[in-house]
Formats: sequence, structure tokens, C-alpha cells
Amino acid sequence: MNIETFTIKYYEKVIELWRKTGISVGSSDTKQGLEKMVQRNPKLFLIGKIDEKLISVVMGGFDGRRGYVHHLAVEPAYQKKGYGKLMMDKLMKKFRELGVHKVHLFIEKHNKTVVDFYRNLGWDIRDDLMMMSYVPDKNLYKMRI
Ligand SMILES: CC(C)(COP(=O)(O)OP(=O)(O)OC[C@H]1O[C@@H](n2cnc3c(N)ncnc32)[C@H](O)[C@@H]1OP(=O)(O)O)[C@@H](O)C(=O)NCCC(=O)NCCS
Repeated sequence: MNIETFTIKYYEKVIELWRKTGISVGSSDTKQGLEKMVQRNPKLFLIGKIDEKLISVVMGGFDGRRGYVHHLAVEPAYQKKGYGKLMMDKLMKKFRELGVHKVHLFIEKHNKTVVDFYRNLGWDIRDDLMMMSYVPDKNLYKMRI
């Protein structure tokens, strides 16, 4: 698998892969939304390709203090072959190069089985924190697009 940085020409393929793998595609995942993400984090938004076919994606973000991982997905026919791990290894290398101290990710509760995948990669569950969210503009935010 070749891992490269996302460019907007892959937008439709990435959305298709997210939908196929059960990722919640939301109002931040419009074409403009992903363009904004890649502009802010040019080296952290990765796609994986085999024979020019897009089979994996992960979106990394760095806010200047913490790193974040969003929307990791591997094409179903290519799962359990080590590609998810390769994507995460590459992204963690990039966070290391940026000097990031800690990286967070969010798992929807209905997707608990994925916890073991991350545990296997050295991630720990935080039970000392609760997550809270605020929507600054209710017209802007929609769960799904
Ligand atoms: C989660 C996901 C990206 C994993 O990708 P993958 O390519 O199948 O994972 P890998 O083959 O690299 O797995 C690496 C290791 O984790 C293990 N693993 C993978 N998925 C697992 C799971 N659901 N439960 C337990 N272990 C798992 C593998 O067995 C492998 O272990 P090994 O190194 O001992 O052989 C993929 O299943 C996926 O796209 N899921 C749907 C989207 C999703 O839920 N994304 C996460 C959002 S938070």
C-alpha cells in the first residue's frame, strides 16, 4: 500500500469509503470542510492506495497543543490485513515529527469493538475524563450530510 497525503481530487472516493465503513459523515465533511482540514494539517490527512485504488483514509489534526485522529477507515475487503495499523503508524510518525505530546481520538459507543484494534496499537482508554461538546452555530452543524 502506498500512503500519500490527501488531495481534494479524492473527495468523492473518501466519502464513499467512509459511508461504506459506517463512519458518520457529518457537516464538517463537505468538500470545503475537508479542504479546510487539509490546509490546516497538510501532512496529517492520509490516504492509502493499492494499484491506484483508494483503500484507506485517516484524518489527523493538530491544534497546536494536542493531536487528533478522525475517521480512520479501511475498505472492507482489505480489512484485517495490517493496513489500518500501517495508516496509524504513519500518522503517529508524523505527530512525533511535529513534536506532539499527546493524541486523542473518539470512538462512538456503538463501535466498541474497535477499541481492541487501538489497544493493540498502544492506545489507552481514558476513564478520568468526560467529553462535552458545544455547537456555536446550530445552522452550520448537522449530524449528517
Ligand atoms: C478499524 C479499522 C480501520 C481497522 O483496520 P484493519 O486494516 O482491519 O486493521 P489491521 O489489520 O491493521 O489490524 C491491526 C491489528 O489489530 C487487530 N484488529 C483489527 N480490527 C480489530 C477489531 N475490530 N478488534 C480487535 N482487533 C482488531 C488485527 O487483528 C491486528 O492484530 P495483529 O497485529 O495482532 O494481527 C477497520 O476495521 C475499519 O475500517 N473499520 C470501520 C471504520 C471504523 O470503525 N473506524 C474507526 C473509527 S474510530
